[in-house]
Amino acid sequence: MLFGTQKIGPGGRLEVGGVDACELAERYGTPLYVLDEEALRARCREYVEAFRRAAPGATVAYAAKAFLSKAMARLAHEEGLHLDVASFGELRVALAAGFPPERITFHGNFKKDEEVRAALGAGVGLFVADSFEELRAVSAAARSLGKKQRALVRVAPGIDPHTFEAVSTGGFDTKFGFTAANGAALRAVEECLAAEGIELAGLHAHIGSQILSLDPYRLLVEKLLELAEEIGRKTGWTPGFLGLGGGLGIRYSEADVPPAPEDLARTVAEALRRGARDRNLPEPKIGVEPGRSIVGEAGLTLYRVGPVKEVPSEDGGTRVYATVDGGLSDNPRPLMYGATYPAVLANRASETPARLIRVAGRHCETDTLFDVPLPLPRPGDILAVQCTGAYNHSMASNYNCFFRPPVVFVRGGSSRAVVRRETEEDLLARDVG
Ligand code: LLP
Repeated sequence: MLFGTQKIGPGGRLEVGGVDACELAERYGTPLYVLDEEALRARCREYVEAFRRAAPGATVAYAAKAFLSKAMARLAHEEGLHLDVASFGELRVALAAGFPPERITFHGNFKKDEEVRAALGAGVGLFVADSFEELRAVSAAARSLGKKQRALVRVAPGIDPHTFEAVSTGGFDTKFGFTAANGAALRAVEECLAAEGIELAGLHAHIGSQILSLDPYRLLVEKLLELAEEIGRKTGWTPGFLGLGGGLGIRYSEADVPPAPEDLARTVAEALRRGARDRNLPEPKIGVEPGRSIVGEAGLTLYRVGPVKEVPSEDGGTRVYATVDGGLSDNPRPLMYGATYPAVLANRASETPARLIRVAGRHCETDTLFDVPLPLPRPGDILAVQCTGAYNHSMASNYNCFFRPPVVFVRGGSSRAVVRRETEEDLLARDVG
């Protein structure tokens, strides 16, 4: 599979953004995160236009947790997206990039009081309240700043989107948000309405990630409208805005057939129109906050292949392990979620795959990445693991004192580093003992 601007160039070598992937590996070293800027921008536009058409007034916020750097924040802004930050650190990076604070939504299930104060002081546009403790902290911080903070109440709607357990966040049994079913969401709304420092703008829910069906979204709109009706009956307040979270999946394999942003936009807009009409509710504006489906397919990671081993496998055959010069520290997702990825040998991209190859990392740990059909790899080959744009750089660690890889944007035949490789000095900078 090829994604975005990827193509096979002269000599059967992989190109992305008009640049030879092997030359990128040579110039910046490996492992290397590469982002296809054209594909990334096209995806941002696709989202913005789809929602503009289907649901006028809708907002699309990029979920920064999927991948954040100053360049990424600026790109999202240039393409007309809002930004969803899930921590104080993400907020700081966004502000350092000059992202307009009024277009930032502040998420997180435990924002500390000092973080709440700083975020409000910086002027974040929307605050998503996740607990009663937080509601009180927001109201107090806003009052001391002499303002009212626009806020959403995050609801746990009780929907299982049939995705990995660890990334499913919208069910009942969850640490996130206020439960709809036991009256907690209603009480949160009542507290917000009574709070001097809060201007309650609406409700929010996020049901999970890597979702490949539209049904959970339809259900989500239904559930939120049902709750809105109940709240309206009891308080007289109805939400002017419904935040529907992110979660749309991408193609980690040929079996994954994710809906397009346009399908999502049309589905939720229709469900909203019908649901609001049936319940006699004013139709709220909507917002979505995609992360993975914005950056996932636009990213790839380049590794250099090291030792290649053929070992006996349990089924009586053999297995080939190709070790790459990265692993768990630059991509923890295979070990955490059993995630798999498509991949090609960048220097032999037109060769037919010979067999299933097990790609292994070089940590002191069985950090097998995944199995993928490839030509038999040779030491020195460049392995391009595709679809690593989301939750790879952002979840990278220094395990085994590895240096985190740089991030390079490619576009129109040229490349630029937007995050440099970590160095020994970086590694030791915080070690003050
Ligand atoms: N909004 C909220 C409130 C979220 O919690 C998330 C993701 C998103 C938006 C963006 O979801 P996306 O469109 O990227 O699916 N580390 C995991 C994914 C965790 C997602 C957590 N929340 C992984 O690598 O699969």
